[in-house]
Amino acid sequence: MSENLSPIDTAKYVAARRATDFIESGMKVGLGTGSTAAWLLKCIAEMIRDEGLSITGVATSERTAAMARDLGIPSTTLDATKWLDLTIDGADEFDGEMTLIKGGGGALLQEKIVAAASDQMIVIADKTKEVETLGAFALPVEVIGFGRETTRALIEETLPGLDVLGRETVWRMDGEAPFKTDEGNFILDLHLKRIGNARQLALVLNQIPGVVENGLFVDLCDVVVTGHADGKVEVRDINAGTFEEQRLPVEPTANIFKDIGA
Ligand code: 5RP
Repeated sequence: MSENLSPIDTAKYVAARRATDFIESGMKVGLGTGSTAAWLLKCIAEMIRDEGLSITGVATSERTAAMARDLGIPSTTLDATKWLDLTIDGADEFDGEMTLIKGGGGALLQEKIVAAASDQMIVIADKTKEVETLGAFALPVEVIGFGRETTRALIEETLPGLDVLGRETVWRMDGEAPFKTDEGNFILDLHLKRIGNARQLALVLNQIPGVVENGLFVDLCDVVVTGHADGKVEVRDINAGTFEEQRLPVEPTANIFKDIGA
């Protein structure tokens, strides 16, 4: 194990590394956002450089687009490709049905559009993201600026009729200022503690005027690659109904460990 790599980064790295097995030359690949996806981009860049891998990436955020540019990953827009072979992205929580909470990095809107445009969505995550029941992680909801307090009130009025435990809602901040998404919208984090019916909640939230999108990904994820701090990786494919386990080596001297940005 690399002495430079923390246990959590080892888990994220091995998940990202294993997920690259799904990538073939010529593919159009959705590139996720976040610290786990950052490892994926480093792995892909290394494969382009050392193995002649040829892909076209579509970023799920401005942050990922900038990183892909810096790493020399050829990229284009979703409008140019319209459809992708696969998307590999992180998650904040996933359950046994592979329903996800995403948006911890505020990129849920582009992430959901890109995932929906992909033949296959693969989630890469460290083991801490796996939960029995969704909802300990606050559910991000992207809200447009106009009348956002009204939208918040409408969301708060709706929650008591839904199968959730907590009802606190908090505007996400970026220091002293409200956090703004790449589309210039706001994020309202819903502290629900337990989400009993993710499908219903996702549908109801998206009916509320002013809500652009919510961070629940239902029926979008096909494969979850879970990394452990000891290098163990689990691959669960919901369509094939398969579950595989293996251990990946982590080389301390590999270039991949340098300059990783979260
Ligand atoms: C960004 C996301 C990320 O995928 C999610 O927050 C996981 O991030 P990390 O890999 O850093 O834990 O949804 O909007």
